[in-house]
Amino acid sequence: MKTTKGKILVTGGLGYIGSHTAVELLSQGFEVVLLDDLSNSKAFVKDRISAITQKSPDFVQVDLKDKEALYDALSQYAGKIEGVIHFAAHKAVGESVENPLKYYKNNLLSLIHVLEWMKEFSVGSLIFSSSCTVYGQGDTMPLTEDSPLKPCESPYGNTKKMCEEILVDFAKINSQKCTLLRYFNPIGAHPSGLLGELPLGVPNNLVPYVSQTAAGIREVLKIFGNDYPTPDGTAIRDYIDVVDLAFAHVLCLKKLLEKSSVEDSSRVEIYNLGTGSGSSVLEVVQTFEKAAQTKVNYIFAPRREGDIVCAYADNQKAKIELGWQPKTSLLESLQNVWRWQQSLGED
Ligand code: WQD
Repeated sequence: MKTTKGKILVTGGLGYIGSHTAVELLSQGFEVVLLDDLSNSKAFVKDRISAITQKSPDFVQVDLKDKEALYDALSQYAGKIEGVIHFAAHKAVGESVENPLKYYKNNLLSLIHVLEWMKEFSVGSLIFSSSCTVYGQGDTMPLTEDSPLKPCESPYGNTKKMCEEILVDFAKINSQKCTLLRYFNPIGAHPSGLLGELPLGVPNNLVPYVSQTAAGIREVLKIFGNDYPTPDGTAIRDYIDVVDLAFAHVLCLKKLLEKSSVEDSSRVEIYNLGTGSGSSVLEVVQTFEKAAQTKVNYIFAPRREGDIVCAYADNQKAKIELGWQPKTSLLESLQNVWRWQQSLGED
């Protein structure tokens, strides 16, 4: 249960992973302040969080690039915030290639403004939403937290790597406790059917595209590449359920808040959050067809620029140090996705 006296600020709190994490924080007795600019989420998500938890967290709508607006919005919480979980960022890989400055400006400036606010108001604990994309195409699998960081395939990935470097430098000179959580491929939806992924426009990611194709919203799924050096020729990823991810954030927060700032707080902890096993694109499609009891119309298309062949996690560090155990199977994740997709109707 709750072990803190202060509130937890969740930036990007109405987003996909942010909203699921807010549910778990509230369910475990934390007081939460949700912050979101609604650029990639919808206001009704807050009502869904309340419906699931019977709690009514505060919500502030603000663009983190606007420092003055941020300070105004958070002025009422001065001295009341004990920790921050920073999800807020643009995350569409393809869009980041088309519009790199939008990504560098938003993802870096947002973090910097949050850190300046934390420093000014003596908030000493931060969890940062990072990504396995910082590894690029790793040479050996599974990827550990010590695997070398290879050149990122996109400006989006670069912003994650640069934010990690900003946090390491910031933690060094401030008594700032910080943890980087490197998600592999987040998928799934809350089992209640009240929360899930809300991709605006044409989905970039595989699972929402599969789900929308099964629902008849998209005509056909293009499988990008079936000539990879993998068992079935399609690329392999580590698909981690969003509720399992949310649990990891709560475990990480508890550990971070218990850590006294006198300890070696300049040490930035890093955890890989994945299932520890890989699934191919075709395996995901076939598992989805089983989950939804419907066929998915797909064709094979050329490889997508910037895609890597294979990535899956060594998650032993999170298991041992956080006591984290991902529990949701790919099939269950996709059953929850289908339930969520059907709740959205044809819109
Ligand atoms: C997975 C596989 C595609 C769509 C990115 C980011 C990562 C994280 C998740 C934010 C690949 C194939 C996809 C489609 C397809 N971002 N695919 N047809 O690129 O592994 O990771 O999104 O949380 O940080 O890097 O995820 O879902 O886009 O692709 O065949 O219509 O599915 O080629 O092999 P990716 P993805």
